[in-house]
Amino acid sequence: MTQFDTAPAKTGDTFVRHNPNYLNMIFGTTAVTPMWVADMDLPIASPIQDALRYVADRGQFAYEFNSEGIFEAISAWFMRRHDLVLNPKNFVPFPGVLTAIALLVRELSDKGDGVLIQVPAYHQFKKVIGTAGRKVVSSPLINTGGRYSMDFEDLEAKLAPETVKLMILCNPHNPVGRVWTSEELKKIVEIAERNGVTIISDEIHSDILYGDHRFTSLSALDNKRHVSVIGSPAKTFGMQSISNGYVYTENEDILKRMKHVEDSMYLGHGNAFTNFATIAAYEKGDEWVDAFLSYMQGTIDWVSEFLTNELPTISMSPVEGTYQIWLDCSDTGLEGDELKAKLGESGFGATPGTWFDDEATQFIRINIAAPRSDIESAFKRFKVVLDQSAKRKVDGMAPVD
Ligand SMILES: Cc1ncc(COP(=O)(O)O)c(C=O)c1O
Repeated sequence: MTQFDTAPAKTGDTFVRHNPNYLNMIFGTTAVTPMWVADMDLPIASPIQDALRYVADRGQFAYEFNSEGIFEAISAWFMRRHDLVLNPKNFVPFPGVLTAIALLVRELSDKGDGVLIQVPAYHQFKKVIGTAGRKVVSSPLINTGGRYSMDFEDLEAKLAPETVKLMILCNPHNPVGRVWTSEELKKIVEIAERNGVTIISDEIHSDILYGDHRFTSLSALDNKRHVSVIGSPAKTFGMQSISNGYVYTENEDILKRMKHVEDSMYLGHGNAFTNFATIAAYEKGDEWVDAFLSYMQGTIDWVSEFLTNELPTISMSPVEGTYQIWLDCSDTGLEGDELKAKLGESGFGATPGTWFDDEATQFIRINIAAPRSDIESAFKRFKVVLDQSAKRKVDGMAPVD
């Protein structure tokens, strides 16, 4: 037994992942193993809980400054784990990564401008762009036998028009699990530079890496003109409901403008729970994150073996990073609503691929940050339902005599 083999007790319907209304809406039933939203169904690191208890026990909730220590702790973490030098003075806190992206989009482009995303893409990017009155410009990733790569020619063409001002990069990539290499990143920076486009690099998944894959931040590349980098402890430590997001940029102009946005909107107000928890996570969370990553790797290996041996009609994209797994169900012969119905029938609470790409009707994404036994039983139920469905199809096709 490991610390990750038991999910914390659920104490109400306010958890998004388990909320009955959402489950009914997405799967048509509440009887599912929810593997859709990208948070954790696992106990978090004890230093974070200790920090939260410390704040609660003080019994005093007066105005409190955001400690400078947050950005020092984050910078030290990135140095320790990724050999990345960050300057604590170049961060600006925002309530979340999406808030930060939404504000950057408003600050760095005008209404009607184009913002490029690479599809399949984390579904909120479209909303962030659309609700800001900007236009979504999609550049499809290239799928070669399940492994995705960037289409540089398409990027070159789509970033060329003057009205396209921004690109939102997901690095590492949710949902396809790629950890972009420095060569790939250098190429897109080059293309963006040439076309006067600013890249907003969402690096929220930067710590979730497997095998030899190494995270390269855009801020590690010698490019200080266009690039902003965003992070948060949310994904790394399972702090989705208590984390802040951070813009990091070495572009002095963008830094100044984002500090002004933060100040003028009173967004840096701070929250003592968030602040103390964040420092505890980055200063004392290494051991927990290492154990978590090795648990995730074990689950990935289990899924890979199960698919090969028991469910060969489903294939998994190589998981280089993130705890999202991208599955291609094309060989099941199911797609769209029919595939969704099978998810509901088997209680396999995966996110339909069409959330990330209109064309991805035969794909699903699962979030594996849960006890392995939950993932295993969900896959076993899914197999039973798919086998029955395949058998019905074959029986239906058999000649009647
Ligand atoms: C790529 C990416 N960015 C941002 C977020 C959400 O970040 P936040 O909750 O800090 O707004 C997610 C959550 O799934 C994500 O996958």
